[in-house]
Amino acid sequence: MALQQSKEPDVYQENFEPASYLDYYKMNQDPMADEILHFMLKHYSATFKPGGLEGKLLIDIGSGPTIYQLLSACESFQEIVATDYTDKNRQELEKWLKKMPGAFDWSPGVKYVCELEGNRDRWAEKEERLRRAVRQVLKCDILKERPLEPVALLPADCLISSLCLEAACPTLQACRDALRHLRSLLRPRGHLVLSGAFETSFYMVGDKRFSALPLDEKFLREALQENGFIIEKLEKVPRVPKTCLDNRSDYTGLFFLVARRKD
Ligand SMILES: C[S@@+](CC[C@H](N)C(=O)[O-])C[C@H]1O[C@@H](n2cnc3c(N)ncnc32)[C@H](O)[C@@H]1O
Repeated sequence: MALQQSKEPDVYQENFEPASYLDYYKMNQDPMADEILHFMLKHYSATFKPGGLEGKLLIDIGSGPTIYQLLSACESFQEIVATDYTDKNRQELEKWLKKMPGAFDWSPGVKYVCELEGNRDRWAEKEERLRRAVRQVLKCDILKERPLEPVALLPADCLISSLCLEAACPTLQACRDALRHLRSLLRPRGHLVLSGAFETSFYMVGDKRFSALPLDEKFLREALQENGFIIEKLEKVPRVPKTCLDNRSDYTGLFFLVARRKD
């Protein structure tokens, strides 16, 4: 008798609409977008400034439909690989990379980063630089032992992942395991640049509600240490009162950390 297999619904593949998610990134129009982008872009800029992290290959894990997280890194890494779990997110990324009609307008964020880097007028040049640096957009599943399978890449000098662990991992143990999976994509002494939101239990994408895994600083420190990472920097801010009224999500603050793989 054949065993009946029950399969969890593929929530992200079925329900995550990139265009709705990108509402979170309408800078200068939405206080939550400004809160997230100002914090993240400031720390990415400090991390990848001249004299900061640099190398050949950088992989962004769970890119979603967004590119803000790569705007500073594209100045100091020769090749970038973007990844996401869903087909629609990868298509949305390709739309921006190939300047296709309907692509999201990232220019307010790009101008902001150029200003942080000391040259606001360079924004169009930076967009082109990023488009050239992104060599591939791959399927990724951080819950798998080998997240990029069947593709095999050389070990990366740096991994970025923003707002992905708390979205993808159903339990704290799954999150610890995901960090171990990510470690295998990184060369010894390479860097993991991890950012996200603290204590999130849900977030809305349009009218769809997504569960999230509440993370806190203590857990992150322990899980990174357990997986052979040394934290070099951890920045955090509480959620600003202005966005606390926004009921699209219940996060309590944001974090940005840089960790090094020990060996
Ligand atoms: C909140 S979004 C973050 C997107 C983007 N990194 C950002 O900073 O806005 C969470 C992303 O995690 C992706 N995701 C969900 N499950 C995943 C998995 N098992 N492996 C990798 N990514 C996953 C989703 O497709 C989605 O793009």
